[in-house]
Amino acid sequence: MKLAVVGGGSTYTPELIDGFARLRDTLPIGELVLVDPAADRLELVGGLARRIFARQGHPGTVTTTTDLEAGVDGADAVLLQLRVGGQAARQQDETWPLECGCVGQETTGAGGLAKALRTVPVVLDIAERVRRASPDAWIIDFTNPVGIVTRALLQAGHKAVGLCNVAIGLQRKFARLLDVAPRDVHLEHVGLNHLTWELGVRLGGPDGADVLPKLLAEHGDAIADDLRLPRALLDRLGVVPSYYLRYFYAHDEVVDELRTKPSRAAEVAEMERRLLEMYGDPALDEKPELLAKRGGAFYSEAAVDLAAALLGGSGGVQVVNTRNDGTLPFLPDDAVVEVPARVDGSGARPLPVRPLDPLYAGLVAAVTAYEDLALEAALRGGRDRVFRALLAHPLVGQYTYADTLTDRLIAHNREHLAWA
Ligand code: G6P
Ligand code: MN
Repeated sequence: MKLAVVGGGSTYTPELIDGFARLRDTLPIGELVLVDPAADRLELVGGLARRIFARQGHPGTVTTTTDLEAGVDGADAVLLQLRVGGQAARQQDETWPLECGCVGQETTGAGGLAKALRTVPVVLDIAERVRRASPDAWIIDFTNPVGIVTRALLQAGHKAVGLCNVAIGLQRKFARLLDVAPRDVHLEHVGLNHLTWELGVRLGGPDGADVLPKLLAEHGDAIADDLRLPRALLDRLGVVPSYYLRYFYAHDEVVDELRTKPSRAAEVAEMERRLLEMYGDPALDEKPELLAKRGGAFYSEAAVDLAAALLGGSGGVQVVNTRNDGTLPFLPDDAVVEVPARVDGSGARPLPVRPLDPLYAGLVAAVTAYEDLALEAALRGGRDRVFRALLAHPLVGQYTYADTLTDRLIAHNREHLAWA
């Protein structure tokens, strides 16, 4: 089996390699290729990847290349984990929206739109080249904003599934609190990427007993602390929102906070500098502790499970980003939703979900409309399309803000936008 990782020079890659090495029985990789335009990073990350495989006795080979076509040629699956513009562009996404009193975040709000506009054309170009080199390969997209990017890929007819670690993170957390194995925890996870709620937590299988009320009663404080939302709010909702809902439910509080501390991008850039230094040490042959301070915990495990299922697995249930097709009946079929799905060699088929309370359905519908307009703007460009996406976004809404944010977005991203 051949796997290619586009964006393989990412400082995150050792997390992925560690998962591939530990879970080699689930996903028997013969050849792993790290593809990245940055040769210097590839050398550091590739070297560490080989040492991790060797230490753990993984029989597969790890190679690196800056040549996309050569890297993905003959691949069974291609993982996309790239960041157009790097942490420097993220730093801007997290900063200029604050000037209008709007949240500055890499995937939510105006910053997320900027990321979508930079990213969609690049990902589509890569996917097209993957299709020419390896027409049967599955594309697994981690590249944010995952909902919009996956929708772009599916709309262009690619064999793609979008992936995020929020669900697997909660599954692992709940399993610890309940003292059961993670595979016994089935989340009723519903919504859009980075806009989800756990409506139920079932033990043993999708039809098992719902232990969410018990979890909230016994561990509500710990869960609320993690989300940085008040316990009383969780009790009133009776569901567990993902931590990205804090940007909505506590928007102004978050803006005040973001204005007074260094950006996450700055923190991450500093961590990346230190990580790359460590990766260069020939004595290092495991993923360093510092990597655990990044947000991507468990993403390697989610990726291994998904790749294994797509490459001929037995049809287990995993939370993925895929076409709605009636799963949430109030959304268009071609919207991309993040829900549990049965995954096998033919792709992902969402399990039925119970009717969504209007309290959540309204926000999901509004953000889906925003994502639709965001994709239009990413594909076709133009100031007016950017303005329409921002006006539709529930965290922007007012035309004065939408106008100002449109100008800032374009000014800060000109070098990445072919039409600007
Ligand atoms: C979580 C999200 C990812 C996001 C990451 C950011 O893992 O699911 O989509 O990229 O957090 O983590 P970072 O360490 O870059 O802030
Ligand atoms: Mn994510």
